[in-house]
Amino acid sequence: MNISEQRILITGALGGIGNELALELAEKGAKLALVARDTDKLNALAQSIEERGGKAFAIACDLAAPDAAKFVAEHATQTMNGVDILINCAGITYFGLFDQQSPEAMEALWHINVVVPMQLTRALLPQMSARRQGLIVNLGSVFGSIGFAYFTTYSASKFAMRGFSEALRRELDGTGVGVTYVAPRYTKTQLNKGAISLMAEAVGMNTDEPKLVARHVIRAIEQDRKDYYIGWPESLFVGINVLLPRLLDGALRKQNNQTRAFAENNI
Ligand SMILES: NC(=O)c1ccc[n+]([C@@H]2O[C@H](COP(=O)([O-])OP(=O)(O)OC[C@H]3O[C@@H](n4cnc5c(N)ncnc54)[C@H](OP(=O)(O)O)[C@@H]3O)[C@@H](O)[C@H]2O)c1
Repeated sequence: MNISEQRILITGALGGIGNELALELAEKGAKLALVARDTDKLNALAQSIEERGGKAFAIACDLAAPDAAKFVAEHATQTMNGVDILINCAGITYFGLFDQQSPEAMEALWHINVVVPMQLTRALLPQMSARRQGLIVNLGSVFGSIGFAYFTTYSASKFAMRGFSEALRRELDGTGVGVTYVAPRYTKTQLNKGAISLMAEAVGMNTDEPKLVARHVIRAIEQDRKDYYIGWPESLFVGINVLLPRLLDGALRKQNNQTRAFAENNI
């Protein structure tokens, strides 16, 4: 798919990956509707894109609010006269012992990571289907294929996004609307602040810069990819986990023990 002139709605536009994505997509000639919560920062991002000759509109919205997806979809459709590509990039994480996560925090994570992307997709799909053209891009994670201890709710939410992407892609087969699932590995952003970054350093996790991840997301779009896993050997481990999950249980045991100390203290 050629990105130039595409009307793209991107959530999480002020995040590490989302911000880089917005800048790169604008440079490639896309028209953008940017979603995040901080009005001033969002306006500043839109303005800096415009100053470089791009096109961007700010839609400040807390996606946890009731009817947020409906509001965002309608606002973006109105402002850009339609949406060709939805990039579900907003996300939150939880690192800690599963039984110490509050039910409210569990629900909030599920809402932002799974329910809102599905609702946004639901809201935008009719116009894409009518034009027989469109793309839903879902940001998953390597943790959406390999269940990671102490990221249990987060892992589960990314497994859900992978399943959602696969099922919807099959449902939309032949309609002209595609679904692309992109799974980054550990990326240096605010999502991983504090205990997570300390843990990642201690266990020697491979890390990517958000700009590189943004470029991979764009490549996945341009190459009409269905699934796109970022990083080696993580993408190999994804395959091993499907074929030989008990092997990975053993391989991850030592790392889990190291990780637990950080998770226990992250209250
Ligand atoms: N970083 C990683 O290691 C990594 C690895 C694999 C996958 N991913 C996935 O990549 C995506 C982007 O992650 P990131 O690392 O760029 O995260 P990030 O830097 O923490 O940014 C997250 C973005 O989500 C938005 N968001 C969160 N809650 C929201 C809410 N209630 N309403 C509106 N917006 C909300 C934030 O908006 P505000 O600016 O308003 O806070 C922010 O723009 C996520 O889906 C994440 O799961 C990340």
